[in-house]
Amino acid sequence: MSSAQRPPVSPATLLQHDKPAPRYTSYPTAASFHAEVNAPQYEECLAQAAMRTDEPLGVYVHLPFCDTKCTFCGCTMIVSRRPDRMATYTDRLCQEINRVAAALGERRTLAQLHFGGGTPNHLPAALFDRVWDALWSRFQKTEHAEISIEVDPRVGSTEQILRFGAMGFNRISFGVQDFSDSVQEKIHRRQSAAAAEECFHAARQAGFTGINLDLVYGLPGQSVDSFVLSTEKTLALRPDRIALFSFAYVPWLKPHQKTISPTSLPSPFDKLSIYFAARERFLDAGYEQIGMDHFALPDDELARALRQGDLRRNFQGYTTLPGTDSIGLGMSAIGDIAGAYVQNDPAIQNYEERISANSFATYRGYLRSAEDELRRDVIHRILCGFGLNYSAIEERWKIDFRDHFADALEKLEALARDGLVEIDETGFRATELGQLLIRIIAMPFDAYLQEVQSNSPKTFSRSV
Ligand SMILES: C[S@@+](CC[C@H](N)C(=O)[O-])C[C@H]1O[C@@H](n2cnc3c(N)ncnc32)[C@H](O)[C@@H]1O
Ligand code: SF4
Repeated sequence: MSSAQRPPVSPATLLQHDKPAPRYTSYPTAASFHAEVNAPQYEECLAQAAMRTDEPLGVYVHLPFCDTKCTFCGCTMIVSRRPDRMATYTDRLCQEINRVAAALGERRTLAQLHFGGGTPNHLPAALFDRVWDALWSRFQKTEHAEISIEVDPRVGSTEQILRFGAMGFNRISFGVQDFSDSVQEKIHRRQSAAAAEECFHAARQAGFTGINLDLVYGLPGQSVDSFVLSTEKTLALRPDRIALFSFAYVPWLKPHQKTISPTSLPSPFDKLSIYFAARERFLDAGYEQIGMDHFALPDDELARALRQGDLRRNFQGYTTLPGTDSIGLGMSAIGDIAGAYVQNDPAIQNYEERISANSFATYRGYLRSAEDELRRDVIHRILCGFGLNYSAIEERWKIDFRDHFADALEKLEALARDGLVEIDETGFRATELGQLLIRIIAMPFDAYLQEVQSNSPKTFSRSV
């Protein structure tokens, strides 16, 4: 299909192609993880990883506690204001840090450290310091390490953000979701624009780069007009990055979402109209689009990495750091170590009991085969480069691409007829429409998709 014949990118065309699709923050996806990857297996992976002493690590720390529960939330979180409960968790986390560090022997350099949640900035400062000290008594950071944190502006303050900056954090992400009072009411998240603005300015003052704001479209009560006001307030701050997430409404997985009535949600067409209205404003304001849901200013590292072909993907989404072993700490956290995905127990009590018993809290995981590694490379290149050059894969993996992926290429032909990709003898590239549906273009290369979808059809949320 030539560019002149290609359908214009609009809510209607996007809706036509929308279907459930994995986010591919990992391949195979978490739906393929299984319990045979257990604590002894994890210990073996750590021992293998320990041998690569000169390679830096990535670390993800899960701090699950929140002050209140937002009814739209899809994260693994626990509402608590009890210092004793948070202190117990913090102690177990420090125990886990020590145990993992011991298993890693001399491998102690971090290129990336991310605190996610839940709400990391809800943890009292004294407890936060305990985790921080435990980490830095065992690890050192590389010169350009990325040290990042997710912050809820409702529990943040100038003082707190400046403190994070002084501690050594250099990246920050604020959860805003929507500036409208009536939408906030419906998701049980009252948050003044002033709170977001205060935290944002403090982050600038502290010298953070890559400052990100999260917005969510498709929330109850949202309309194009209401969300345009939110995009304008966002643009007035001019964050380096904006994440524009599609509301994942999965009440069968997150029962608290049942308090949101499906009738209060915008229709699928309206939801996409909201997305397009926001996207248009971000592009007009000079942001570059990265995949469906990320926007970055042209001089931000993510946008530069996209242009230079250096964009990468990990459990936190897009990143500029080259793939490296990563460790997940805390309940539900996932690591990627010595060719295996390893996830900790998502139930706090189980996590704490297992760490107390001087074990690891491994719950499930996945040991990748050589074929998985090849497909993971293909899928990540599609998601990060919005296309694929066959020769790069053939050289790296010593395969004949067309032969190896004959089935996938047949499915890709159908996507080409729909105007999502353009294929030639050297490879394929996503069209403008295809870039918005990039997860769907990656799906033909996923060897487990059919099995996962037939076992549990509701595993993945829709792609837009
Ligand atoms: C761990 S939270 C961020 C930190 C903090 N808890 C907050 O809410 O400000 C991560 C982000 O996930 C996104 N999110 C949470 N639930 C979601 C859902 N059901 N659908 C889409 N995005 C969601 C929100 O944008 C949120 O800011
Ligand atoms: S959106 Fe953030 S603050 Fe709200 S419940 Fe989820 S993790 Fe907690």
